[in-house]
Amino acid sequence: MSAIAEPFDAAIAESLLAFWADAGVDAMLLDEAVDRIEAGKILPPARPAAPVVPLAAAPAPRAFGGQADISGAVAQAQQLAAGAANLDALVAAIAAFEGCPLRFEGAATKAVVYRGDPKAPLLVIGEGPGADEDARGEPFVGRAGKLLDRMLAAAGLTDRVLITNTVFWRPPGNRTPTPAEQAICAPFLERIVQLVQPRMLLLAGGASAKSVLKREEGILSLRGRWFEWRSADGTLELPAMPTLHPAFLLRQPGAKKKAWSDLLTLSERLDRPERPL
Ligand code: URA
Repeated sequence: MSAIAEPFDAAIAESLLAFWADAGVDAMLLDEAVDRIEAGKILPPARPAAPVVPLAAAPAPRAFGGQADISGAVAQAQQLAAGAANLDALVAAIAAFEGCPLRFEGAATKAVVYRGDPKAPLLVIGEGPGADEDARGEPFVGRAGKLLDRMLAAAGLTDRVLITNTVFWRPPGNRTPTPAEQAICAPFLERIVQLVQPRMLLLAGGASAKSVLKREEGILSLRGRWFEWRSADGTLELPAMPTLHPAFLLRQPGAKKKAWSDLLTLSERLDRPERPL
C-alpha cells in the first residue's frame, strides 16, 4: 500500500518527510541491495590518475587534522588559559585564540564559551556548538538545549549549572568535533573547571565523555557511571558522569528514561552533604 495519497500531493509528501526526519530517519534503504553499476544505471567510479606533484610544490604538512602536530596550538592555549584570572578574561582569551581550525571553518567569528552561574556546583560539558549556538554565541540554546534545560529544571538543577562544550566554535555541518580539535581546546575547558570549581561534571554525549575522560568505550557503556576526572596538572579531582546527549534523546525519545535516571543519580549526589575528612 502506498503511504502517499493518490493523486500525488506535495504537501502531504513534505509533511510525511518532515515527520520521518523528526523521528531521526535520515536514509532510505531497501531490504535488498541494488547493484546499479551491474544494472547499467550508473558508470563505475573512474579511477583518478595519480596526480604528479613536483617535489618543490608538495603541499606543506597541514597544520590540523589527521596526525598533524598540534603541540604548538595546545601550548599556546595552555599559556592563554593559565593567564586568565577569571571567566571574563578566559572568554576574551578564547576569542583571541587563532589556534583552533574550527574558528576558520564556517563558524561565526564569535566564540561560544559558556552560559550559567560562574559559581555553579555542576558543570555540564557538551560536544560543540551547533547553528543556533553559533548564531546566539551561547551553548545549548537550540532544540537540544531546550530539552536539556527542561531536564535540568525537572531535576531541580536550574540556576545550579554552568554549561559549556569541549570546543568553542561550531564544527562545520554540525559534525562531531575531532579529537585534535578537542585537544586544542582542552586547556581552556580545564581552566573553566578551575575557575568555576564545581563539585561535579555532567558529560553530555559520547564525544564529550570520551574526550574529557580519555576513554574509548561508547556512550551507552559509559553513561550513568561515576568516573574520577583529574586536571592535567593533578591539582583538581572531581566526580564526572557521562550521559546521553539531548540531541540523541530528541531522535530516540525512548532513551530519555536512561538520561533521567543519570540526572537523578547525579542530583542526589550533588545534594548529599560531603563527609568531613
Ligand atoms: N550540542 C552540544 O553538544 N552543545 C551545544 O552547545 C549545542 C548542541
